[in-house]
Amino acid sequence: MTSSQKIIGQSIAIEELRTLIEMVGPSESTVLILGDSGTGKELVARALHDSSSRAGGPFIPVNCGAIPRDLLESELFGHRKGSFTGAIADRKGRFELANKGTLFLDEIGDMPIDLQVKLLRVLQERQIDPVGSLLSIPIDVRVLAATHKDIVGLMEKSLFREDLYYRLNVMPIEIKTLGERVDDVPVLFEYFARQHIVDGKKPIRLHPTSMQLFLDYSWPGNVRELANLVDRYSSLYPGQEVDLRNVIPSMVPPGIRALASWPQANAEQRPAPKAVTDYVSPSEPLGAELFAAISGASEAESPPPCRPRPTPPTDSGAWRSTCAACCSYPGWRCRCPPLQQSERSASE
Ligand SMILES: Nc1ncnc2c1ncn2[C@@H]1O[C@H](COP(=O)(O)OP(=O)(O)OP(=O)(O)O)[C@@H](O)[C@H]1O
Ligand SMILES: [Mg+2]
Repeated sequence: MTSSQKIIGQSIAIEELRTLIEMVGPSESTVLILGDSGTGKELVARALHDSSSRAGGPFIPVNCGAIPRDLLESELFGHRKGSFTGAIADRKGRFELANKGTLFLDEIGDMPIDLQVKLLRVLQERQIDPVGSLLSIPIDVRVLAATHKDIVGLMEKSLFREDLYYRLNVMPIEIKTLGERVDDVPVLFEYFARQHIVDGKKPIRLHPTSMQLFLDYSWPGNVRELANLVDRYSSLYPGQEVDLRNVIPSMVPPGIRALASWPQANAEQRPAPKAVTDYVSPSEPLGAELFAAISGASEAESPPPCRPRPTPPTDSGAWRSTCAACCSYPGWRCRCPPLQQSERSASE
């Protein structure tokens, strides 16, 4: 499997992305990867590294947004013993650690402006100045950068330096959101389902109506959200076909439940519920007794056993208890017991 083949998808956008990686990967060019959170920026960065002549060298990621400003400079360029309080020994920076390999500057849009100046100098001169050192060190590193931020918007607000942008943006690679390439949803679902096989069971599958919901959904968390959902359902329903209509509502993203195609919103289009007596024939052994018992009951159309659960307040602000059994069937009167104060507090 080539590195770009680890990027799963069958949409035109992903096919183009794989082609681009194979073209750009082997070059020494600096690449700026743009895309929303969870679209696969780090995956693309790794694929670029793996398809380059530096694949045998280190791939060093740095999250510029996660490291405090005071530490970021020394984290990137290293420091010399005694250069600041706490610098008890010489320490190599990530640029040096990435020597003969690739440095991945993730969330570059979060880099403080004064460090942007230093980074620009490093990219131009190919040498670093560790904090507290008078000597520059030459480096042999390919730089890849990524951000989910609107970097042009940051430049307009003077939060990102234009000269650094042009220095990084030698090869721009933009990854579309998952909502813009829903053709990838079924193959990504299968891919993640195979990764989450539990106890040698089959990978989970999705009921066709649920797959339609997945295709209609906008996926604000992109591929990461889909991967997490498949992980969740693989634990809850190992080896099974997942039908979202039967999944506990809190386990379904609210955005999916809000879709016009969500069955709850179109209750009248759902098949009419069957009476319990439809399932019991008086001609079957024991059936007569059961039939009499059920049809003699005051309400023959009993829902399945009720499993109540508190749900957040509705628009009216009222708390109610509901369950995946009786309450979700139109025409059946919900008989969930009233919500206890203790249950309510536990959910608040
Ligand atoms: N096309 C894809 N094929 C297979 N796995 C993917 C794909 N896209 C993303 N993933 C997986 O989704 C998860 C999120 O991807 P990644 O961390 O690369 O996203 P990101 O764009 O860097 O997100 P963030 O901006 O939040 O850091 C990872 O587990 C990654 O392996
Ligand atoms: Mg990332």
